[in-house]
Parts: sequence; C-alpha cells; structure tokens
Amino acid sequence: MTITLALSKGRIFEETLPLLAAAGIEVLEDPEKSRKLILPTNQPDVRVVLVRASDVPTYVEYGGADLGVTGKDTLIEHGSQGLYQPLDLRIAKCRVSVAVRQDFDYERAVKQGSRLKVATKYTSIAREFFATKGVHVDMVKLYGSMELAPLTGLADAIVDLVSTGNTLKANHLVEVERIMDISSFLVVNQAALKLKREPLRRIINAFASAIPAEQN
Ligand code: PRP
Repeated sequence: MTITLALSKGRIFEETLPLLAAAGIEVLEDPEKSRKLILPTNQPDVRVVLVRASDVPTYVEYGGADLGVTGKDTLIEHGSQGLYQPLDLRIAKCRVSVAVRQDFDYERAVKQGSRLKVATKYTSIAREFFATKGVHVDMVKLYGSMELAPLTGLADAIVDLVSTGNTLKANHLVEVERIMDISSFLVVNQAALKLKREPLRRIINAFASAIPAEQN
C-alpha cells in the first residue's frame, strides 16, 4: 500500500523534513537539485510528490496524494471540502497583510470611504476582510509579484504574505493591516484515511509528536 505525500518546494518542504524524520521517513533526493517530481524516501512504500503550493489541496482532495502539507492561506482560497485537517503543524509561519506605497494615505482613503483598488492572489481572504471593514474594493487578481502592483499604478494596495517584511521594504511598501496569521496544516484525503488507516495514522501521530512548540 503506497502512501503519497504532496509537498511544495521551498519553506514548506524544508520545514516538513523534521516532521517526516519523526515518522522515520527520509526523502532521498533534494528537490532544489533534482528535476524529478516524484521523490523516493527511505521507506519503499512512501513517496513524495512535488506540486505547486496552490495545487496541494487539489491533489489531496481528488486522491492524487493521500496527504499533504499546505498553508492556511491556500486552504482558505481553495476551500476545505473533502479534506480532513487533523493538525496545525505550526510551520512556515507568516501572515496575510495589506500593504501600500509609503506615500499612500491608507487611513485617509478608508475614512473617506474611497473605493480601493486591491491586487492579490488571495481574493477570498481579501474580499471577506474588506467587506467586514465596510470598504468597497475593486479586486485585481494576480498570480505573483504582487509588490509591483502599487508601484506601477495597477492598484492602491496589495494583500500578500509577509514573513520578514524584507520584500515590502525592498519595494518601498508598508504594512498597514495584518489580516491573519498563517501556518501550514496537514491535510488528508478522507477516503484514504479509511482505506490506508494504519500507515496514515502512524504518520499523523508522528507528525503530532514533532510539532514545534508555540512561540510568542
Ligand atoms: C512570499 C510573498 C512575499 C514574500 C514575503 O512570496 O508573496 O513576496 O514571500 O516574505 P518576506 O516578508 O520574508 O520578504 P514567496 O517567496 O512565498 O513566493 P510567491 O511569490 O510565489 O508567493
């Protein structure tokens, strides 16, 4: 019975490795060096598939993978239908924020009830946030490099992930609202949980025991 785990390259992959180690699983190839999309592990019945971060929930929902690790931002945008979410792994932490150009008076625009042009990949999160705030927005959907939008006049504000804040700083943008804290979750295909109960439980329990402690 093969177990397939969906991960995305970068921070999520790196920060999932210690959790895999707790389950006795070691990935045998480095995704930064290999072009392979299916990576073997030291356990013949466990493999890792590399997918785009935003595709992890899709793979797990439709059974292309039995389980996966995905950011809360991605889960909210995708919707969590059909996904069992047993664990907040407390890895790949960051936040979703609103940012504007240094010379844009966000407070004033909000107070005056101006329509805001907002560029983002996170349209569901942004829509809900501004609706709750009572701010009218024109949403511009982008797929990356959101920071460019206010610099080129495409938008007044962006809604994007912020971790260190270095990307905002390098592009002369300032964070004006923190919308929500983000971390990555383990998601499991519901049918697989029944059919492959034992091996999946073993992995879920090992991950649970290795979750980093909450920091303040
Ligand atoms: C994210 C985000 C910002 C950056 C923030 O991009 O979109 O660009 O990280 O990090 P910082 O605050 O530490 O500078 P990511 O590298 O995840 O790639 P993406 O553009 O594909 O989302």
